[in-house]
Amino acid sequence: MIEPAAKPKPPGPCSFILFGATGDLTHRLVTPALYNLAEADLLPREFCLAGIVRKPMSADALRESLIKGIRTYARKPIDDAVVTRLLSCLSCFQADPEDPASFDRLKDELAGIETKKATGGNRLFYLATPPSAFAPIAKQLGRTGMLRQHDGIWRRLIVEKPFGTDLASARKLNAELLAIMDEDQIYRIDHYLGKETVQNILVLRFSNGMFEPIWNRHHIDHVQITVNETLDVGHRGSFYDATGALRDMVPNHLFQLLSLVAMEPPAKLDARTVRSEKAEVLSAIQTETREQALQNSVRGQYKASRVNGKEIPDYTATDDVRPDSTTETYAAMKLTIDNWRWAGVPFYLRTGKALSAKRTEIAIKFRQAPLAMFRDTPVDHLSQNYLVIAIEPTEKIELQFNTKVPGPAMTASGVEMTFCYRDYFKAEPQTGYETLIYDCMIGDNLLFQRADSVEAGWQAVQPFLDAWRAAGRDGLVSYQAGSDGPKEADDLLERDNRTWRRAT
Ligand code: BG6
Repeated sequence: MIEPAAKPKPPGPCSFILFGATGDLTHRLVTPALYNLAEADLLPREFCLAGIVRKPMSADALRESLIKGIRTYARKPIDDAVVTRLLSCLSCFQADPEDPASFDRLKDELAGIETKKATGGNRLFYLATPPSAFAPIAKQLGRTGMLRQHDGIWRRLIVEKPFGTDLASARKLNAELLAIMDEDQIYRIDHYLGKETVQNILVLRFSNGMFEPIWNRHHIDHVQITVNETLDVGHRGSFYDATGALRDMVPNHLFQLLSLVAMEPPAKLDARTVRSEKAEVLSAIQTETREQALQNSVRGQYKASRVNGKEIPDYTATDDVRPDSTTETYAAMKLTIDNWRWAGVPFYLRTGKALSAKRTEIAIKFRQAPLAMFRDTPVDHLSQNYLVIAIEPTEKIELQFNTKVPGPAMTASGVEMTFCYRDYFKAEPQTGYETLIYDCMIGDNLLFQRADSVEAGWQAVQPFLDAWRAAGRDGLVSYQAGSDGPKEADDLLERDNRTWRRAT
């Protein structure tokens, strides 16, 4: 019998001020998530939505465009009454950090609609903009006093990824933001933390007594984290060519998965304690020398082929990608965590574009049982014991173990025991942003990144960035689009007598 979850309440009054209102992220994820919150009655009763644009645009034109986005990207049938209710309060304001006076006007305009809507002055600013605009917008918001909290009125800022492009730029951005507001006002988003299965890692590990005693180097052989995508770079050439697979995925998404799997048990489930443990384990990732970084990593670029029947060009023939680009579309690496729990347990990470299948999972491989007992029986080798936390394509948890095949002979076979979220909880499809936006409105920053863990993440990948930049084309391998990635990624594990787990 499933206990019905306690229904969350709508947050208190606030306005939602969305920078980058005409952009892709707004249409694809932010407003569909607001729609889902509105449908679940989880938006404030006193609420207003302000879209901020750089070029003149009417509120009606913006509303039309957002409605189109909600219809296109919703993963379920849309209720028109909910869309109307959500967007009836939409205003559209023009502001550009290059024109500081536009922020002075915005301040007055916001105050006007906030009074009408009785939002009490509480504000959630959402920066769904290119990263180069984060600091300039925050500076103008700070200069005009729009971020100032007083008399119980809150002001919060959601900052999208990428947060910096390396350790130095992440430190600079943190310093710029922290000069304007307090850490508690900054909500650095990583949409992986909005995924149910990712949040469930905390519950799985720490609400079940059976995992913690074996969650260490005595029982775990190694951990594999895979984030494979079928998507190619497509129309994102200019962003991607300056970014690459490592920056785009590893210090953020893959490290969220790694830190939740590897962190020490937090004494309390509050934001300060959980985020401190996550930052702690990230800072225990061993800093590699450039030589070690090259030895313990693989970077690849895809070559033209078909993925799911679609023709994909060579990466370097993609629009807005330099023909001689050495940007990687695939990255694999071996990391070690220098603490008592994980000493000697490798963490293998891999991620890439234009691969054969979408697959996001954490596979925890337990040490092999001693085989002595089965010597001289047909059970001369056993299949491997994995605990798999799968996020894509299906959210599930799977335990692989050996069992006897019925019959007179002592024969073993590997089997799987699977818990599948969708079958059990019948949950509605979500974008992953709903929880994050809701949490920001209620002031819970547990699922957001703190400055120290962002910097610890960059610190761990910086030697790879430096080594790859210095190596240029040397060591850059290719793989065919639609394949499982470069052979060299298999070699990385084979050198340690291990293999990547195959999808079941
Ligand atoms: C984004 C990256 O942050 O995450 C994209 O910029 C990537 O390149 C995406 O495709 C993957 O997210 P998900 O939820 O589909 O695994």
